[in-house]
Amino acid sequence: MAKFIIEHLEPEVYPWCVLEYAHISKRVGKTNLIFTNVTKGAMKLKNLGEIKKESVKSLKLKRACILDPSAVKTLTPEIAKRFDYFIFGGILGDNPQRFRTKKELSSKLSFPKFNLGTKQMSTDTAVIVCKKIVDGLDLNKLEFVEEYFVDEGKGLERILPYRYLVEAGEAVFTPGLRKLLKKQSRIL
Ligand SMILES: C[S@@+](CC[C@H](N)C(=O)[O-])C[C@H]1O[C@@H](n2cnc3c(N)ncnc32)[C@H](O)[C@@H]1O
Repeated sequence: MAKFIIEHLEPEVYPWCVLEYAHISKRVGKTNLIFTNVTKGAMKLKNLGEIKKESVKSLKLKRACILDPSAVKTLTPEIAKRFDYFIFGGILGDNPQRFRTKKELSSKLSFPKFNLGTKQMSTDTAVIVCKKIVDGLDLNKLEFVEEYFVDEGKGLERILPYRYLVEAGEAVFTPGLRKLLKKQSRIL
């Protein structure tokens, strides 16, 4: 069974991280999910998967690959069969991209690197898309939207300029994140 590793690369386990990580856990199963580099706030991820303080860089993994939007090759079901571990950055999306996955993860590990298309996705979207490829679906069989709108109330709308998977005619968005963004916009 494929294992999904999230190398947490934010300074804290922020509320949005918890929501994205809970979404990943629900979709891949907590026994297939490992969080690495969690140096504080581990309690917030209790019951979502295995939690490690160590970075993925210090684990002696075999048959592992990294998912990086700046990688040249695209992951296919055939390629995915060669791997047991799929490594992701637990990183906030940014526009314009700062290429943190490359700078902080893939350039520091010698594992093969693959993209899931060149458009940036949230970590939970990327894991869900990767799992579908691991399960045998080609990337070009999946449906996406290129941005997502969050109504923040009082006539305000936030545009998230990232790629989101469409399932059953609806964009898949992190459960609870819409509410959190709305709450944060009231504070700001
Ligand atoms: C929000 S993205 C971080 C993107 C970050 N701004 C950067 O420049 O690398 C979080 C993680 O999801 C995965 N990811 C997102 N989009 C991807 C894509 N198109 N191909 C491969 N991995 C992707 C990567 O593992 C990445 O570290």
